[in-house]
Parts: sequence; structure tokens; C-alpha cells
Amino acid sequence: MPHKFDAAWASILEDEERKEFLPPVEILKRLGVREGITFADIGCGTGYFTIPAAELVGRGRVFAIDVQAEMLELLKKKIKDRENITIVKSSEDTIPLPSESVDITFMGDVLHELEGEGTLREAYRILRRGGVLGVVDWKKEKMEIGPPFEDRLSIEEAKAKIKGVGFSVTESFEIPPYHYCLIAKKDEP
Ligand SMILES: C[S@@+](CC[C@H](N)C(=O)[O-])C[C@H]1O[C@@H](n2cnc3c(N)ncnc32)[C@H](O)[C@@H]1O
Repeated sequence: MPHKFDAAWASILEDEERKEFLPPVEILKRLGVREGITFADIGCGTGYFTIPAAELVGRGRVFAIDVQAEMLELLKKKIKDRENITIVKSSEDTIPLPSESVDITFMGDVLHELEGEGTLREAYRILRRGGVLGVVDWKKEKMEIGPPFEDRLSIEEAKAKIKGVGFSVTESFEIPPYHYCLIAKKDEP
């Protein structure tokens, strides 16, 4: 079973160096995050992608979703009274949001932590038809930073997981030096 990120290490998610190798605004814009949309940040952690997304969607909405209450508590302290972020406590198999209610779903360094297909199935269910799933994760290579090698997924393994719940993968590219990104769609009826 893959390891969940340990909330005791939350501060490393905010490391300045991380912004250089994983620039959140650039990645979110490439996924199409823009004014007015509804964005679901699944496995939001302390809000590394949530807060920039909230700035980009403006009068839209960001759902900040995580299975760990400790991470959501840390995020709550950071967002203070920002009105366009809704915090959502999920479980491995349930995201308590209506079906087809979001325009873009996203997982930043989360796919390799999922247990089974439940969360991906929920990501598919809550996304509107024609909507986009963005996945950023660590390359399956031995590195001095990041999750254990055994937990990591190759791009091909990640694509297979995403396709397995019904998404069509439309794009994949590297975010050098450590990450890759997959963009997938929930097809129109
Ligand atoms: C490595 S952290 C990344 C956090 C954030 N996305 C970022 O990039 O800073 C992974 C997060 O995913 C959460 N997570 C793991 N499995 C999850 C699941 N099945 N559903 C929702 N969140 C999950 C963990 O609790 C943790 O907060």
C-alpha cells in the first residue's frame, strides 16, 4: 500500500525551492484554470496549488479536498477569510460533492498515494462532461527528494490508472527535472 504524506512534514510542501521546480501558476494556467471556473484540488494538502488557483478563478470556486483533517486544518489557517475556497474532507472512496459539478479536477503529487480506484472514480464523477483532469506527479526515478521509488508511478502506469476509470488522456509532458504532467478529459456524451 502506498504511503500517505505525513502531515508532520507539511512545511516541505511550502519550500521556496519547490516553486522553482514545480511552478504552480504556470501549471494551473496550462490546465486552463481561469476566471469564473470551478476547480477541485484533490489532495490539496496545505494549499500549494489551492491558493494560486483561487487567485486565478476569482469569482469562481475552488474546492480544497483532502483525506487528512490535519492538512485541512493547516490550510484553514492560511486562507483566513478568503471566500472562494470551500474546504472538503473526503475519504478514499467518497468526495462529498455533486456529480458533474466542477470544470477542472486536479491532483498535485497525489496519484501515487491513492489506495485503489475510489478517489479517481470520484474525480471522474464530480467532473462535468468535457471537463479536464490534470495530474502532476513524481517521475519514477531514484532521487534524493520525493516519495519512495516503490510508491512512484511511471507515466505509462499513471496513464493506465486514469484511463481505467474512463478518462481520455489528451496530453502528457515532463516538468523537469522531477515531475510529469498528464492532462485528461471526461468525454462529452
Ligand atoms: C504530497 S501531498 C501534496 C499536497 C498538495 N497537492 C501539494 O502539491 O502541495 C499529498 C496530499 O494528498 C492527500 N491525499 C492522499 N490520498 C488522498 C485521497 N485518496 N484523497 C484525497 N487526498 C488524498 C494527502 O493527505 C496529502 O495532503
